[in-house]
Amino acid sequence: MVNKNNKEVLLSISNLKQYFPIKKGRVVKANDGVSIDIYKGETFGLVGESGCGKSTLGRTILQLYHQTYGRTMYYGRSLEELAPKYFQTTIKNLPKLRKNWKELESKKEKLENEYSKLTEEQQFAKHEELDTARKLAEDAMLNMTKIVGGFITVEDLTPVQNIYGKVYDLSRKIAGLHDSLQDANVDLADAEFALDKGKGSQSKVDSCRMNVDDVSAQIEKAKKELENLRSEIEQMRAPYKNNPEFLKYEEYRDEGIDLARLNYNEMRKLRRDLQLIFQDPYSSLNPRMSVGQIISEGMQAHNMIKRKDERMQERVLKIMDQCGLAPYFLHRFPHQFSGGQRQRIGIARALATQPKFVVCDEAVSALDVSIQAQIINLLQDLKEEANLTYLFITHDLSVVKYISDRIGVMYLGNMVELADSQDIFANPIHPYTEALLNAIPTTEDESRKELQILEGDIPSPVNPPKGCKFHTRCAYCTEICRQVVPEWEEVRPNHFVACHHKRI
Ligand SMILES: Nc1ncnc2c1ncn2[C@@H]1O[C@H](COP(=O)(O)OP(=O)(O)OP(=O)(O)O)[C@@H](O)[C@H]1O
Ligand code: SF4
Ligand SMILES: [Mg+2]
Repeated sequence: MVNKNNKEVLLSISNLKQYFPIKKGRVVKANDGVSIDIYKGETFGLVGESGCGKSTLGRTILQLYHQTYGRTMYYGRSLEELAPKYFQTTIKNLPKLRKNWKELESKKEKLENEYSKLTEEQQFAKHEELDTARKLAEDAMLNMTKIVGGFITVEDLTPVQNIYGKVYDLSRKIAGLHDSLQDANVDLADAEFALDKGKGSQSKVDSCRMNVDDVSAQIEKAKKELENLRSEIEQMRAPYKNNPEFLKYEEYRDEGIDLARLNYNEMRKLRRDLQLIFQDPYSSLNPRMSVGQIISEGMQAHNMIKRKDERMQERVLKIMDQCGLAPYFLHRFPHQFSGGQRQRIGIARALATQPKFVVCDEAVSALDVSIQAQIINLLQDLKEEANLTYLFITHDLSVVKYISDRIGVMYLGNMVELADSQDIFANPIHPYTEALLNAIPTTEDESRKELQILEGDIPSPVNPPKGCKFHTRCAYCTEICRQVVPEWEEVRPNHFVACHHKRI
C-alpha cells in the first residue's frame, strides 16, 4: 500500500493496545493506543525508557501476544493469497455488523451533543468517555469498510454479499493452490537432485515438472476468474461515483491483512515473513540443538525444504556464510560460542525463512561496543541484500541515530513523537524527546546504563496519570495536560507529536 507521502507501507498499526492482566482484575497497560506506519525497506528505530512498552510493541506486531485492541495491517502479502476466515465472516454478517455500527454511531453522536453543552471543566471529565465511543464506532466501521468500501452505505446488501462471497471462495482456492505449488516445487527439486546423484529417473523429474505446470496453470485460471469478479465489482460501484457518502467510505478500502484477526493456522503461515532477533542470544537458543539444527528448524517448519534433503546443509552453510559464521561451526552447540557469535546465530536463524519484516529487540545491547559495530554492520548488509524492513528497538540513542531512517519515541505505552531520524535529532518537539536527547551519554560507560533521564519516577503502567501521561514529569505542564489526552498529530510532513504545547 502506498500512503499519502508516496511511501510504500509494509505494516500499518492503528490504536494498538496490549494490556496484561495482573492480580485483582487489574491490568498493565503496556501499549495503550499506538498508531504508526512502517515503510517497506526502512529501519524504524524505537526508543524510550525501560518498561515503556517497546518489546511489547515489537512482539504484539508479530502477534506473539494476542493483541488486546486495534488493527495491525500487513501488506507483505495480499488478502487473496491468504484468504483469511475473517474475510468470510465479515461478508456473511455484513447486515448485522452494519446495524451494530449504526448503534455505536448514534451513541457517539448523543455523547457529542451532550459534550458540546458542557463547560470546559466538565468537558475534561467527559473527554475519555467520548474518545472511547468515537474509537469504537470507527473500528466497527473500519472492519467492514476495509473489505467492501462504500458498499456499506448501500440499502440492499445481498448482491454485495453474493459477489464478495464468490471472491472469498476463489481466493481460498488460490491460497490452497499456492500451497500445492510450493509442495510440487519441492518435489521437483528433490527429483532433480536425485537424478543428479544418479539415484533417480528422468521420468520422475518429468512427472514432477508436469505437476508444477499443472498447478501453475490452475492458479492462472483462478486468477483470471478473480479478475473478472473484480471488474464486476467495479461495475457495481460505477453508479455511485458521484455519491459523496459512498465515496467517503470508499477511501477506507484496503487490500491488507489484519494480523490481529487471523486464526492460529493463518498466522502460522505468515510467521515465515515476520521474525524476531532477541537481546540475549544465549537464552534464546536451544542449548541442545546444534547450529545447523537451529538455523534449519524454521525452513522445515514452513515446508521450504524436506527434513531429509541433503541440500539443507548447503542452504544452512550459505546463510552461515552470509552471517559471518565459519562452516565448521555447523555441528557445534550454543555454549561453545561468544556473545557476538551467538548473536550471529540468532540472526541466521531469523533470516533462514526469508522474512520480510524483522524485529531486532535490543539486538546489540548485550555486546561489547566493538562487537556491536560488527553486528550492526552485518544487519545493515543483510537488509540491503534481502530487502528487509526492521523495527530496531533499543534504549541506546547513539545506536538508533546511526541505523534508523525514522525514530519513534515511546513513553508509558504511547508513542509521543515520530519523525525522520535527522529531523528528530535536529528539531525535537515533544518535551520528553528533548529530555532524552539532552541525556545522551557522552562516555561509553554511561551508554551501557539504562535510560534514566528525568527527575521523578516513571509512573506505573497499571495506573497511569490522567491526561498526558508525561505530565507528572514535564516542565511545560498546564491544567489541560493533567486532564485531556493530547491528540497524535502530524505537525509537519512525516513528523508526528502528541503534546498540547508543541514547541515548534
Ligand atoms: N507478559 C507480561 N505480563 C505482565 N506485564 C508485562 C508483561 N510483559 C511486559 N509487561 C509489563 O509491560 C510494561 C512494558 O514492558 P516492555 O517489556 O514492553 O518494556 P520495554 O520498553 O521493552 O522495557 P526494556 O527497555 O526494559 O526492555 C512493563 O511495565 C512490564 O512490566
Ligand atoms: S501535553 Fe503537556 S505535559 Fe504532556 S508533554 Fe506536552 S506540555 Fe508536557
Ligand atoms: Mg524490552
